[in-house]
Amino acid sequence: MATAKSRKAAPGRLAQKTANPEPRVYVSAPPPVAPSFYHDLVWNLRNGVLAVTESGQIAVMNDVAYRIFGLTPRESDIGRPYSAVLKDLPDVMRIVAGAFELSHLPNRAELRVKRTNKVIGYTLSQVRDTRGRITGATLFIKDLTRVEQLEERERLRDRLAALGEMAAAIAHEVKNPLAGIEVMAGLLKRQLLDNQDAQSILKDIIKEAKMANAIVVEVLDFVRPIRLQVEDSRLDEVVRDAMAMAESHRNRGQVEVSMSFPDDLPGIQGDPHQLRQIFTNLLTNAFEAMNGAGQVSISAAQLPAEEEVAVGSDVKAVPMIQVEVSDSGPGVPPEVIDKMFSPFFTTKPQGSGLGLAIVRKIVDAHDGRIDVSAGPQGGARFRIILPVTGNHELFR
Ligand SMILES: Nc1ncnc2c1ncn2[C@@H]1O[C@H](COP(=O)(O)OP(=O)(O)O)[C@@H](O)[C@H]1O
Ligand SMILES: [Mg+2]
Repeated sequence: MATAKSRKAAPGRLAQKTANPEPRVYVSAPPPVAPSFYHDLVWNLRNGVLAVTESGQIAVMNDVAYRIFGLTPRESDIGRPYSAVLKDLPDVMRIVAGAFELSHLPNRAELRVKRTNKVIGYTLSQVRDTRGRITGATLFIKDLTRVEQLEERERLRDRLAALGEMAAAIAHEVKNPLAGIEVMAGLLKRQLLDNQDAQSILKDIIKEAKMANAIVVEVLDFVRPIRLQVEDSRLDEVVRDAMAMAESHRNRGQVEVSMSFPDDLPGIQGDPHQLRQIFTNLLTNAFEAMNGAGQVSISAAQLPAEEEVAVGSDVKAVPMIQVEVSDSGPGVPPEVIDKMFSPFFTTKPQGSGLGLAIVRKIVDAHDGRIDVSAGPQGGARFRIILPVTGNHELFR
């Protein structure tokens, strides 16, 4: 029971004794900010926030939440039933409804939002008034899509490390006997100059040995850990060099290659030799896919700075450059798309299946991304996104 004396003390006033003055304590000080501050605070949080009232109306929904859900922010959503605003997001709606039904609310749970295909981490809390009555619910969300991509990359790296050790050991063992076969076949060829049958068989043996050797070299290339020799690199020069390299690997026949790079494209911090390998492999594949006729176009554009996850919780926004290589070949069948970047996956009788695995490895080493889709000319379109400055530079 409260005494008459304590009831007299107005809330928000100084608790003060006259006889023995103690340090002044504000029981509830007026906030040093305008009421709009709370709106701005929630709106600008880097996590998504969605709050609903007990009667199911939206009380708060911030910019990040709209973005994660793939919705357009509308002021009129405030006060509308959440079941109407989130009607295309049944998975999210179910979670919010749980706030009023569940006894244990999920903390740091994860969900893939079907509508936007984003992976979100979320925490659900109840809003209670001072008497403990539930008056609403809040959903805190964070977009984990990028984190997931990084984890996936990490897993792939581990897998490749194990596979790589084995492949390197085998490639090493095979390299010497192969060189032996080639040399000895050459000797024999010179000794049997007047035997036409033997000449033609030995020519084939030498050709096959050379081809096997090329695969071994590619395997070793693939498994060797990448050490980037980073310098200022101009992608237009890199791509031009790659064209010459690809043509020396593979006769391009009637294939036309066009290149469109903006004049003001910034250079990037990267290893020009490794970067050249990316485009050499992509162009070689394009020439092979088109079998002598068609078009390949290579274009580049600068993308606005995006958030790059760096070491620890440090985040740095870096401009990105996107390069597209598209061809007018047959395109990539859906069942191939998932596997084409895996080492040793090939649909070609003489393929090594390492071209794209090497491409991916180099793109990764530059903190970039690569994907493939159907191109404007019906063939394959490879899109490579590279940061102007990678983490390898930022954390030197
Ligand atoms: N431009 C392209 N068009 C169609 N399919 C492609 C293209 N590039 C790659 N592929 C597919 O991806 C597979 C893997 O390519 P890659 O790793 O370079 O190995 P390889 O060229 O030795 O087969 C190819 O065998 C092919 O099926
Ligand atoms: Mg290839």
